[in-house]
Amino acid sequence: MSRITPICPLALFAVISIYVQIVLGALASHARPDPGGGGEVLQDAGNIVHIIWAFAVFTGIVLLTGKILGLRKAERLLHPALGLLLLLFMQVFLGFFTFINQPDPAKVVDEASGFPVTGTFVNLRIPHQALGVLILMLSLRVCARAYRIRALSLAEPEAVA
Ligand code: HEM
Repeated sequence: MSRITPICPLALFAVISIYVQIVLGALASHARPDPGGGGEVLQDAGNIVHIIWAFAVFTGIVLLTGKILGLRKAERLLHPALGLLLLLFMQVFLGFFTFINQPDPAKVVDEASGFPVTGTFVNLRIPHQALGVLILMLSLRVCARAYRIRALSLAEPEAVA
């Protein structure tokens, strides 16, 4: 069996877990347009599952990068995987600051002025969202390359480590 084979399911898990993580983040994020109508409950539930699932995403990507580090001749896989790990570290920090600056859904629209309540740090959710998408794209790249290398290694076993 090629050493790339166990990497493929891990890479697939990374893609799926990140996709699920984005959907869970949307639960917390999109709770806001519903002030006083269950928005707080949805935000809290979304936050809890999003933060717990972040551990699964993190574990999956650490395991994936660790396995890739054990391969020979795998720069085309190693570089995006290390990039993925780096972006994930940044995302966890950004997620933490997004969380502590998250507005209360019941107070998002100021009733007196009718304008949304915003603060500078509330906007941290924007880079957090953008980085989430970038991480998903990079994980897709790692996954596609892992499956491609596996296909090549099955065709020419000596060509790939
Ligand atoms: C592990 C990787 C993570 C990814 C890929 C990710 C991705 C995302 C995305 C894409 C959104 C926005 C969803 C939308 O608006 O449709 C989001 C929202 C959010 N994330 Fe994360 N996240 C991650 C980790 C974390 C962590 C570790 C925390 C907290 C410690 C966190 C806290 C939040 C919060 C509070 C929101 C809601 C922001 C708002 O109210 O608009 N995230 N996340």
